[in-house]
Amino acid sequence: MLSRKVAAQLKELETPFYLYDINLLRQTLESVSSESKKYGYKVHYAIKANNDDYLLSIIKEYGIGIDCASGNEVRKAIESGFAADTVVYAGVGKRDKEIRYAIEQGILAINCESIEELQVVNQIAGEMGKKADVGLRVNPDIDPKTNRCIDTGQADSKFGISYDEILEEAELIKSLENINIIGIHIHIGSQIRELHVFENMCNKANAIVEKLESLGFKFRIVDVGGGLGINYDVPENEPIPNFASLFAIVHEYLNVGDKEVHFEFGRSIVGECGELITSVLYNKTTATGRRLLIIDASMTELIRPMLYGSYHNIENITSQEEVCKKYTVVGTACESTDVFDENVSLKKSKRGDLLAIKSAGAYGRSMASQYNMHDLPRGVYSDQLCEK
Ligand code: LLP
Repeated sequence: MLSRKVAAQLKELETPFYLYDINLLRQTLESVSSESKKYGYKVHYAIKANNDDYLLSIIKEYGIGIDCASGNEVRKAIESGFAADTVVYAGVGKRDKEIRYAIEQGILAINCESIEELQVVNQIAGEMGKKADVGLRVNPDIDPKTNRCIDTGQADSKFGISYDEILEEAELIKSLENINIIGIHIHIGSQIRELHVFENMCNKANAIVEKLESLGFKFRIVDVGGGLGINYDVPENEPIPNFASLFAIVHEYLNVGDKEVHFEFGRSIVGECGELITSVLYNKTTATGRRLLIIDASMTELIRPMLYGSYHNIENITSQEEVCKKYTVVGTACESTDVFDENVSLKKSKRGDLLAIKSAGAYGRSMASQYNMHDLPRGVYSDQLCEK
């Protein structure tokens, strides 16, 4: 883990900040690129996980495209130099101006999530005198065996179009003249650690593609989304997620002939390379005997524990103490739920010690807020160890 090695240097910097291990990011990107190339799979990076400029510039070097969830993310991808034809855009509530921008840029696919959205994209493309390339985001009704807060592919989810509705509306969809339906898109959820659920996804995708093609659709692309999980419990054991296993499963179970197969990875690419570095401000004990460690980060820098009950491993990287104690680690925000974890075993911690909150590269900084007028956290990069 990087922060432990460079703790002395980190002591000089104002906390809190995100520390990025650029070597690890590069190794992860090398792994996903080389493993995907074995099967000719195309990879997009889900920019919602982290839109840091420096990280994006590195990701771009590996020939990876971008998956977006808003017009501003599409803009960020284009302005960061990613080719428009490697950019895909999903989202249940695309605004007209976002759709217009995506069509104007000629991105690879607008992945549509309702029949009404397909009609709106068709109408806007018509007004612009263009034909828009579109994917059908199908809700496959699969339980991804992950935290309920971050599953997206179960039948009652707001994401995707129900398969039945696509079947019912097939003729209407095919009649839309200003869109090319170039593929299907499925994303079943995030932080998936039980890889066998991807087998179910592939089986569903096979059936969906076969049925829809029998109704006259002709697809070029099958985009199976992202979701590969990381090891939050003991990140040191698995710094690079097992892309090879996932690709092997998809290769074995997805039977869609010579169609392009696309993936959209967020967490698995940037999750492990980021740590939130924070200082201990105060120790205090509640009347009930709870030992609180008050740190200078809060839910405004990393909201995952408070929003989803997510676990992040925490370590005191500067304490010289031998003894460990149990702490409830709380932040500075004026919210009772601003608790990183209860009963964390840490080396005895005092004011000024640095803590590393690990596996925070994905959905940390990109979900930061300015509640209580906090500053947004900045990035510090291992290859420069300077602030940006
Ligand atoms: N594709 C689509 C259509 C998505 O909605 C997502 C994530 C991804 C790809 C990337 O998924 P990943 O490979 O990162 O699992 N904020 C939550 C996670 C929300 C995920 C949203 N969609 C968290 O902190 O756990």
